[in-house]
Amino acid sequence: MSQQLSTKHLLGIENLTLEDIELIFKTADEFKDVINRPIKKVPSLRDITIANVFFENSTRTKLSFELAEKRLSADVINFSSSNSSVKKGETLLDTVNNILSMKVDMIVMRHASPGAPHFLSRHIEANIVNAGDGTHEHPTQALLDTYSIRERLGEVGGKKVAIIGDILHSRVALSNIFALQKLGAEVMVCGPITLLPKHIQSLGVKVELDVRKALEWCDVANILRIQLERQQIKYFPSLREYSLYYGVNKALLDSLNKEITIMHPGPINRGVEINSDVADSDHAIILDQVENGVAVRMAVLYLLASVSK
Ligand code: CP
Repeated sequence: MSQQLSTKHLLGIENLTLEDIELIFKTADEFKDVINRPIKKVPSLRDITIANVFFENSTRTKLSFELAEKRLSADVINFSSSNSSVKKGETLLDTVNNILSMKVDMIVMRHASPGAPHFLSRHIEANIVNAGDGTHEHPTQALLDTYSIRERLGEVGGKKVAIIGDILHSRVALSNIFALQKLGAEVMVCGPITLLPKHIQSLGVKVELDVRKALEWCDVANILRIQLERQQIKYFPSLREYSLYYGVNKALLDSLNKEITIMHPGPINRGVEINSDVADSDHAIILDQVENGVAVRMAVLYLLASVSK
């Protein structure tokens, strides 16, 4: 196995090779051991400075990257657009070039516009990690999701994974589809027809409108929230009705008489797409996903830093 990634940026899963993903998992295994030791820090990125540049809100991704960077002994600066000079009209490229002038080596960026990190990668030399670009991709989320499936079920290949919810507005769904397929899993998407992209079948996924049938089929259910902040029109009558037809609860799971691993990338809207009796059950690996996110992001940052420029 190569010890280097095939790319100097992590812009999405689409352009990663299977070898890249396996190298990230193998490296994450080693970092997971490190963060479970009494001394959780290694000097691997001691001479590297990383800027976390967030133009959209985040809890998990931002904290997880910052912790990963600190565990690797990198110097870290944080930028949030809500209290920055973006408010005074500065462009994305000017903002990032100003940050890079302060001798920053790597940019971790979340942005509302699909393609924003790809645009940056054509204009700057520093490594870029996409921490979510609009409705497009969220590569580290898919890596930590598939890593968590591998941890719980032994392997990803051959597993049936249903992604349930607002697929249309989800960057998590697209990155998961790419990662799961590269690792040999079968993928189904399930949701109201209005929340499924028109040509989603062209990605080689099964499509199901009935959540019970999706749950009957799958080994793993990755449940996504309704992204109301990205919806300019009404895609379904009410959250109450969505919950009635697509909400995953214990009564529904119990009626299937089978074991399903339950995942959710967060943030959870309890009582809408998932009930507490499922989210907090032993079948759910939602907090394992968050824990694994730190090790996976340490692996990504460490490997990108060592790609020859
Ligand atoms: N899963 C995820 O991206 O969560 P945040 O928006 O809180 O980072």
